[in-house]
Amino acid sequence: MDTFEAYLIEGSPEAVRSGFTQLAQAQLDPGEVLVRLQYASVNYKDALAATGKGRIIRRFPCVGGIDAAGVVESSDSPRFRKGDAVVVHSHGFGVSHHGGYAGWARVPADWVNHVPPGLTPLDAATIGVAGYTAALAVDLMLLNGIVPSRGPVLVNGATGGVASVAIDLLAQLGFEVVAVTGKPEQADYLQALGAASVIAASGLQTGSRPLESAQWQAAVDSLGGEPLAGIIRTTQKDGVIASIGNAAGIAFSSTVMPFILRGVRLIGVNSDNDVPTREHLWKRLATDLRPRHLERIRQVQPFAALPRVIDDVVAGRIRGRNVIAVGAAD
Ligand SMILES: NC(=O)c1ccc[n+]([C@@H]2O[C@H](COP(=O)([O-])OP(=O)(O)OC[C@H]3O[C@@H](n4cnc5c(N)ncnc54)[C@H](OP(=O)(O)O)[C@@H]3O)[C@@H](O)[C@H]2O)c1
Repeated sequence: MDTFEAYLIEGSPEAVRSGFTQLAQAQLDPGEVLVRLQYASVNYKDALAATGKGRIIRRFPCVGGIDAAGVVESSDSPRFRKGDAVVVHSHGFGVSHHGGYAGWARVPADWVNHVPPGLTPLDAATIGVAGYTAALAVDLMLLNGIVPSRGPVLVNGATGGVASVAIDLLAQLGFEVVAVTGKPEQADYLQALGAASVIAASGLQTGSRPLESAQWQAAVDSLGGEPLAGIIRTTQKDGVIASIGNAAGIAFSSTVMPFILRGVRLIGVNSDNDVPTREHLWKRLATDLRPRHLERIRQVQPFAALPRVIDDVVAGRIRGRNVIAVGAAD
């Protein structure tokens, strides 16, 4: 490992430049665990970071990639040994600390989780931060009382990474999933993941009054903005909405009426969790919350395809999880 390929985000918040370069091990950031990376993925946040369309990068230059999987080469942490299959995500990874678009990463041990038995590093990268967050949302929604008998669950931005895994998990748990998408031509894909019905985002009826006809017992919202406001107005009594993302915007307006008259619960979902939470959820992602359709959800691309995939994610032309083969698999 004299030098290795990396996709570096340079410049400043006002003028971001991204491209391939060669790095040496000495240029990696500090951390207890050195990982030989095999796969990384392209999340919405990665695409905003690499193009400068969102102020994501906190330290320039920074290797992009907020999640990756591979094999431990060396570790100063007792939690890991050489040869362990691991997944790295969240905290500063790919934001303020060199991330997953490289042959190697050196990271704090708290950002690393074991790939649990039953999953491969490719599976772990397919799940990545998006699938982890979907599982976290489903877990929080279950804790807040959702049950299949109480009615449909809406999942919007349905062809996206978070939503694809959320549809898979909710359908597996017996929920009637209504997938809402800007790409209704992808209905076959969404139904294969387990969606009971597919609605074009343009055809979703959410009205504009403080309370509209109650349609869903719960929702997984990747969009924020006006779509979230519409969901709040149309969620049934004691319903639960998991707010995960902002693909349609960060601001929304609402009244308190859905909260005080229907007891609607808006719960926030954040994937920057402590080690015990992460270890627990990753184990569940290999057992009771294991997505059934990882092969259908993932598209694996060579490292050289990364700039094109980033453009596709920004333009909303993607489906499921885009995994990049950043290093050789075992
Ligand atoms: N809270 C957390 O810890 C956490 C963790 C992971 C991700 N996130 C956030 O969750 C969101 C989804 O992430 P992801 O990785 O799943 O993204 P993704 O794979 O790019 O999917 C986003 C989906 O949203 C829809 N979409 C995209 N742009 C849109 C727009 N301008 N207006 C309306 N819909 C749009 C598209 O679905 P359709 O074409 O099917 O509608 C797209 O496939 C992002 O905002 C991300 O930052 C948050």
